[in-house]
Amino acid sequence: MNYRHSYHAGNHADVFKHAILLRMATLMQRKDTPYCYLDSHAGTAMYDLEGEAAGKTGEYRDGIARLWKRDDLPDMFAQLRDAVATHNPDAALRYYPGSPQLIADSLREQDRMILSELHPDDAAILRSHFNHDPRIAVHQRDGYELAKAFLPVAEKRALWLLDPPFEKENELARCLASMQIAIQRMRQTVIALWYPIKDQRLLRDFYRQISDAGLPKVLRVELNVRPVDNQLGLNGSGLMLVNPPWPLWEELETALPWLAGVLAQSGEGECRMDWLAGGP
Ligand SMILES: C[S@@+](CC[C@H](N)C(=O)[O-])C[C@H]1O[C@@H](n2cnc3c(N)ncnc32)[C@H](O)[C@@H]1O
Repeated sequence: MNYRHSYHAGNHADVFKHAILLRMATLMQRKDTPYCYLDSHAGTAMYDLEGEAAGKTGEYRDGIARLWKRDDLPDMFAQLRDAVATHNPDAALRYYPGSPQLIADSLREQDRMILSELHPDDAAILRSHFNHDPRIAVHQRDGYELAKAFLPVAEKRALWLLDPPFEKENELARCLASMQIAIQRMRQTVIALWYPIKDQRLLRDFYRQISDAGLPKVLRVELNVRPVDNQLGLNGSGLMLVNPPWPLWEELETALPWLAGVLAQSGEGECRMDWLAGGP
């Protein structure tokens, strides 16, 4: 396990993923009935953007830093910026919360959260950080086992962030298999799978497999900050959203092109959104 999220915290992919995730959590909370949030590859709770790792790459400067002082943010991105701001009371951007902290901050009394993280250091930090909160359970185990271990949940409503590091070649296939298990066990599970946009050939196969997988509704949302034929690093990223709550896609129609413009690193940023299965 070489991947450490501290090198990438707050970058363009985090902004894209976390803004949509937070909005989905808010939409789940329109009903008073409880829901359970699952984070299978949780990372840690908080990242220091002036720490050694984030300082070395400086990726957050082309991510959350570009939104920090703007006064024209669409609601979805204002929600993320404000959530990050609560951890930076001095107004200067220094700390960036990971997905477990962002969702923990928004959890209601009746909601619950299950986190899994395989790296022993991050799992230990998560455990001591959330130790006091009976709504939050931390497991040091393989995130791909989560669907089998915990679904269906008693609440009958679940939001699952599936956010692996994609260090291994078979990771897209493992994601697809565990999403199918989740839907077999609880058809209404809402899933957000994040994936990197690098190898177009691999992705084309993946899109086809997702379309043929028997998943109920799948919305594909993608954001590229550089041309996709650029061989350098992470050109962009996507989210496969299974059973996304309405009216997320209507909000994204205007919010996503705005983000693509703000986060573009060379030329114009690009975005797209379409249904790979089912529809609105
Ligand atoms: C992209 S990071 C997670 C970022 C986090 N979800 C966020 O948005 O703030 C991926 C994490 O998965 C962990 N990881 C890698 N393989 C895993 C596995 N099989 N099960 C659980 N966690 C794993 C890594 O240690 C890393 O912390």
